[in-house]
Amino acid sequence: MAAARLLTAALLGVVACFLSLPAVAQSPTLTVIGRDSIRTFTQKALLAHPELRSVTVADPVYRRTMTYRAVPLAALLKGTGVGANDDVQARAMDDFSVGIPGRLAAATDTAQVEALLAVEDPASPWPPIPGKPDKASAGPFYIVWRRAPSVNVSSEYWAYRLAALAVTDSPLKRWPGLAVGADVPPGDRIRTGLDRFISMCMACHRFNGNGEGGQGPDLGRPMNVTEYFQIAALKKLIRDPASVRQWPDQKMPGFDQSALSDSDLDAIVDWLAYKAKQRR
Ligand code: HEC
Repeated sequence: MAAARLLTAALLGVVACFLSLPAVAQSPTLTVIGRDSIRTFTQKALLAHPELRSVTVADPVYRRTMTYRAVPLAALLKGTGVGANDDVQARAMDDFSVGIPGRLAAATDTAQVEALLAVEDPASPWPPIPGKPDKASAGPFYIVWRRAPSVNVSSEYWAYRLAALAVTDSPLKRWPGLAVGADVPPGDRIRTGLDRFISMCMACHRFNGNGEGGQGPDLGRPMNVTEYFQIAALKKLIRDPASVRQWPDQKMPGFDQSALSDSDLDAIVDWLAYKAKQRR
């Protein structure tokens, strides 16, 4: 009896010890989910990665030039089976989840475009992201881009506070409910709108349940946004949400001309309106 009690006490001690361990020595990790592999990298391991190098970029999140220590994303995606027509879903710690086309995320012609995983060094932390009330930085992991001026990279692909990367099928394969009908001619603005919606909006919004972003509301159901917003106000809101309504915990970033051209904005709204009609 006494022996049993002693054993229980000892076991409890072991459990308590085990439970308290992570709090002592926890280094943030990035999980990379391939087609049939899962790898986990600690912040420490990434800072010692053989391909770690210094990069200086015009950073749209910090709104200035920043220099980072970063590992090429292509190096981290090696062995994941990512193809040019797949997506690399970049999942942040806060319900932000953007699908980055594989041809960009794992690009091999780095003179054209290169994605890198910037890794924050706890010894020299990054500043807080400007304009965010939480005063936290973009770290510990943040996707930054080098690109030729001719290559278009959505502002949403600068994914910060990253927790995981996952290789997935392309969005239209995963969510056929987003598609436009075969009767819509190639090159029609509605098709451009769908493309821009996927790259600019789906990181935070689902549409009729399609998608995996969860920071903002579903823009398709129960009601489609074009059914309860005046179109001019909707466009104004997308450009600058605070120009339409304000509250302290407002989160959606605006999209100015440099992030979203007038014709792309019109195209997104056309696609939203098309989907509302398609359902009726
Ligand atoms: C980084 C996340 C994020 C991105 C990217 C984003 N939104 Fe939002 N959006 C939100 C959040 C969060 C809300 C809820 C209001 C708030 O907190 O600002 C919202 C609200 C909205 C609303 C108001 C919906 C309602 O019923 O009140 C519309 C319309 C909208 N977003 C459209 C868009 C469009 C179109 C895009 C792409 C061009 C986009 N958003 C990109 C986060 C985002």
